[in-house]
Amino acid sequence: MQGFVIEGGTELKGEIMTSGSKNAALPIMAACLLVNGEVRLDGCPCLSDVYSSVRILSCLGCRCELRGGVLTADAKAPTSDYIPDRLMRLMRSSSLYLGACIGRLGSCTLSYPGGCELGARPIDLHLAALEKMGVHINESRGVLECSCPNGLHGAGVSLSFPSVGATENVMLAAALAKGETVIYNAAREPEIADLARFLRCCGANITGEGTSVIRISGVKALHGCEYKVMPDRIVAATYLCTAALAGGELMVTNSRACELRPVIDVLCEAGCDIYGYDDRIYISRKRPLKAVKTIRTMPYPGFPTDAQPLITAVLARARGVSVVAENIFENRFRANPELVRMGARIRTEGRIAVIEGTDRLYGARVMASDLRAGAALTAAAVSAQGITELGGIEYIDRGYERLEKALSSVGARITRTKI
Ligand code: EPZ
Repeated sequence: MQGFVIEGGTELKGEIMTSGSKNAALPIMAACLLVNGEVRLDGCPCLSDVYSSVRILSCLGCRCELRGGVLTADAKAPTSDYIPDRLMRLMRSSSLYLGACIGRLGSCTLSYPGGCELGARPIDLHLAALEKMGVHINESRGVLECSCPNGLHGAGVSLSFPSVGATENVMLAAALAKGETVIYNAAREPEIADLARFLRCCGANITGEGTSVIRISGVKALHGCEYKVMPDRIVAATYLCTAALAGGELMVTNSRACELRPVIDVLCEAGCDIYGYDDRIYISRKRPLKAVKTIRTMPYPGFPTDAQPLITAVLARARGVSVVAENIFENRFRANPELVRMGARIRTEGRIAVIEGTDRLYGARVMASDLRAGAALTAAAVSAQGITELGGIEYIDRGYERLEKALSSVGARITRTKI
């Protein structure tokens, strides 16, 4: 199988640039289906999930081309409202095409989405919200036939949990619906705000993004535009955590410290020096890492669950005992058993991990089982003594543009090869 061979033990030094955000680009690509015109999307990351989105858009009749990080999409004449199961299973965010398809065409047939096995990952909140907007959903053997016999209309939607995907799906459906939709307890992630900015750039009427109440007044049509995707804050967090583990100093460009405050605070508490500027973050770690007070993952602006595997890897080398509580996904400690193979001392029970830091990790043969677990193992291997063989890198490719090349450019020794 394809894997990374990582020779650990070198400090990082230099400048590294983050790509455009996967979790902003994916909903924005779904939103292209709503647009009666051509969209040019700059800063589109070259990732397998983005390629999967191009396949879904093309299947719906949207003309798509991705070249050198620029996506051009033309949905003047969608030809289908059906998304085959094999495409739905490619990733979690395929579910966002429900809102976009319903919004543009008034109907959609799809199955449940795939994605990383972080837990059940139901879409009940998405479906309940869309039903309030007039969507009729007929489910049979995992296939959802969705239609709006009386038209799609605005509604007041209260989310029992500030779900990112459910917030995005409602925004997509509401953009062209009749009347006003208000989302209460909306997710506040920066990627939601990026989607709102993109939709407004196409003529949508949206306010309140970044707060818990988002208002969307449907318009008759959306026009084409040019837009640049926001930087990927989790890729930035990945580079910061890798530098914290390996030691040395790094300037992470195309990144915004204001979007990573909880992660930066924890890394400073662990003994790193970090300075945030408008579009870059500087980190240096010269002293041994030390344990931190309990970390709890929460919806934004709390500590991001996507950075939890990475900070767990950092704390595996922090002197003292740290505790991490994973409050978002029920199965998001999948890197921990692999970190233990590398010499980490981690006890995982349900949603709690107790980490007794050790001075050294050792190279081992380990497997990634989801995107951020793979990134965490890569970061740990860069700082470990000896050689690590990391399998399952197809998960890493879902969210990182050639992670091995990026880290090698600042001193890591990683090759992509058969293992
Ligand atoms: C988005 O997933 C991100 N993915 C995830 O990033 C991120 O971890 C997550 O938001 C939280 O920030 C994309 O944007 C493509 P949720 P999403 O709906 O939308 C439960 C990565 O590594 N829930 O906020 O699926 C759900 O099971 C990925 O880049 C329901 O119960 O997250 C989970 O426990 C991983 N019913 C919690 O809410 C629903 O209808 C958070 O899910 C929807 C969600």
